[in-house]
Amino acid sequence: MSQVPIQFKLNGQDKAEFIDEAATLLSVLRGKVGITSPKAGCEQGTCGTCSVLIDGELRLSCITLAQTCAGASIETVEGMDTDGKLHPLQQAFLDRFAAQCGFCTTGMLMAAKALLDKNPNPTREEVVDAISGNICRCTGYEPIIEAILDATGGSAGSYRRA
Ligand code: FES
Ligand code: FES
Repeated sequence: MSQVPIQFKLNGQDKAEFIDEAATLLSVLRGKVGITSPKAGCEQGTCGTCSVLIDGELRLSCITLAQTCAGASIETVEGMDTDGKLHPLQQAFLDRFAAQCGFCTTGMLMAAKALLDKNPNPTREEVVDAISGNICRCTGYEPIIEAILDATGGSAGSYRRA
């Protein structure tokens, strides 16, 4: 398979790599640049555990051709904390025990961040809708929904994009 050059931003840092022309973004992140938060679950676009943000939009990295990300800004959970301080969503997931095995958690965090970055005060229904593409086999979803609502700061609307 021929190699092609690609440049993109990853969690705010410039990256330049040579990749297989048919490589998925998931394989490039995990195999080339050492980003392991997006998980290889179904690898066919149905479980959400490989979710990342591309230019602020929630995307499934397992079915995204890496080449199409040239020039894009990619966010993963590795970039969520600020100066060692957890992102409000990460803290809320901890406080609400919203992770058990943790396999879905990074995808859930990405789906939640995509929502809150655009809509800092979502309704419960909007939260449920936002994570509807992410499968969790452990938690029953309630702690995850509660955590995301907690991260909004309730009606005070204290969520700040980070
Ligand atoms: S691994 Fe990408 S959607 Fe399941
Ligand atoms: S915490 Fe195990 S799959 Fe969600």
